[in-house]
Order: sequence, then C-alpha cells, then structure tokens
Amino acid sequence: MNDYPRPRMILDCDPGVDDAIAIITAARWADLVGITTVAGNVSGGQTSANAMRMRDLLGLDVPIHRGADGPLSGDLEDASHVHGADGLAGVNLPEPKGDPDSFDAVEFLVETTRAEEGLHLVPIGPLTNIALALRADPGLAHRVASITLMGGGTGGGNVTAAAEFNIYVDPEAADMVFRSGGPVHMIGLNLTNQVRMGSDHAATCREMDTPVGDVVTHLLEHLIDIHFQWEGSDTSAMHDPSAILAITHPHLIASEPRTVVIELDGTHTRGQTLVDERGPAAGDPNCRVGYGVDTESAVDLIMQAIREA
Ligand code: RIB
Ligand code: CA
Repeated sequence: MNDYPRPRMILDCDPGVDDAIAIITAARWADLVGITTVAGNVSGGQTSANAMRMRDLLGLDVPIHRGADGPLSGDLEDASHVHGADGLAGVNLPEPKGDPDSFDAVEFLVETTRAEEGLHLVPIGPLTNIALALRADPGLAHRVASITLMGGGTGGGNVTAAAEFNIYVDPEAADMVFRSGGPVHMIGLNLTNQVRMGSDHAATCREMDTPVGDVVTHLLEHLIDIHFQWEGSDTSAMHDPSAILAITHPHLIASEPRTVVIELDGTHTRGQTLVDERGPAAGDPNCRVGYGVDTESAVDLIMQAIREA
C-alpha cells in the first residue's frame, strides 16, 4: 500500500483528538523529525502535554517543542467543547513525565529547516508557530518541501458559516503563511469531511485489544458522539490524519493550483479561506488546494497505522 519513501516531516499540532490520530498515522507512514505544539483545541500547556502523552503511548523517540499560547492578535478561542477539557476526551493516559524538549518551537522550526532542507512542515492546528517562524526567518518558506496544512476549505466553515477552526483561531497567522511564497498545500474541510470513520471502525479498534487500539476506540467514540449531537451523523471526519496522508500517500489526493486569500476584516467572514476559482483571471496561484481523496484507501491506511502502532 505504501511504496513511497517515508517523507521526513515536522508536525505542528494542537492535540486534540484528531491530532492524536494524526500522530499515530505520521508515526507509521513518515519520519517524524520533530513535533511542535500550539494552543488551539485547548491551551498551549495542554496541547504540549498531550503530544508528550501520545509520544509515550507510541514509544516514539521524537523531540517535542512547545510553541505559542495564543494567536498573534486577540485571545484564544479554544475547542475544548469538542475535544474535552483535557483535549483528549478524558482518555485514560498518564500525564507526561517532565517538560517538553524546549519551550521555543519557533527556534526549532527555524534551526531544523536550516540544518536539513526539504522537510515537510505539517501544521494541523492554528498557524501561529509557522507564522512566527516565517517572521523570524522568511527564507524558511523556500527550504521546506511543503507546508501541508489542515485548515480552511473551498466552501463553508465549521466554526462559522465561513471559517474553519484552525484559520479562525489565528487568521493573521494564516494570512502570513499564504503570503509567504512557500509551497503551501491546503487540505481543507472540503476534502477532510470526505474521510470519515464510524462506530464500526471504533469496534475494530477495540477488537485489536492493544493500548493504542483502546485509546483510539475512546477517541473515536467521543468524536462520533459529538458529530451525532451536532449533525446527526454516526461518523466523524478525520481532518488532521488526512493532511498526513497528503504527504505520505500523495496519490490519494487530487489537488489544483489556486490563489487563496484569508479574510481578516469581514463581519461574518473573518477567517475565511477565499479560493479563487476563476482560472487565469485569478493570477498566479499561491498554493495547491486539495479537492479529491480516495477515502477508502485513506481510512484503510489510518486503520493500518493504528493496528501496527
Ligand atoms: O477544523 C478541524 C481542525 O480544527 C482540526 O485540526 C481539529 O484538530 C481542530 O484543530
Ligand atoms: Ca488539530
């Protein structure tokens, strides 16, 4: 299923239930050079602790560097109502031992991409750390193989009618990333909402009878419950794992070059990723936008990562 070389990536995340499943997916299919954490789904301290909890669960040897505790401007609006107060749906995982490897994610992002060109940068939370790293060293945009981000979308949002959560939390940061000139690849809701897992997947994870399978069972059952309350659906979208697969299994994703701008001022549209679909009239594209996805293969790869963790 995967005859691609394991791409090397830095994962910037806000665990977060689907972030946790993305970490499992990345651990199986990629070379995780490092994890940086950002405030988003829950506080900066909690997302960092959750990344460490997942590292301990998976027995990974990967540095974790804590980053921003809030957006570039304004206060953090978190998603603890979705991910639980602890960010991992109250899962039974021990608190991490010790501190993260540093409290300076920006320095890690800048220095690591200087030391090794061609890494994939994979933000799956608000883009605050990435924007701060680009502000510190604009050349970063041209040293990375991609900035493959879970965020935005070509249609409506999930926090408001217009804005997806990761962009909504820090639109100024998103604006800096999309204006950076870097190889941005937007894996937005229009794509990630197609990649869904439900109670049958949770049951399969439970039958694995492994620590990772048990954790994912808990996380999936929580997400399914939330989605059922919200939209009457008995499945949950795998937003963040989809961004991982866009790099590890690029043949599963169909993307197009597009011009995308971030709305910063709209009364009703702040945080919108406005995708210009006008073709040549849109001018030079500033990113690629994911549209299609082989959903069955994507879910199979996520399940295989859980099974083989
Ligand atoms: O809109 C989905 C995104 O917001 C995901 O990254 C999820 O973890 C939340 O951060
Ligand atoms: Ca996330």
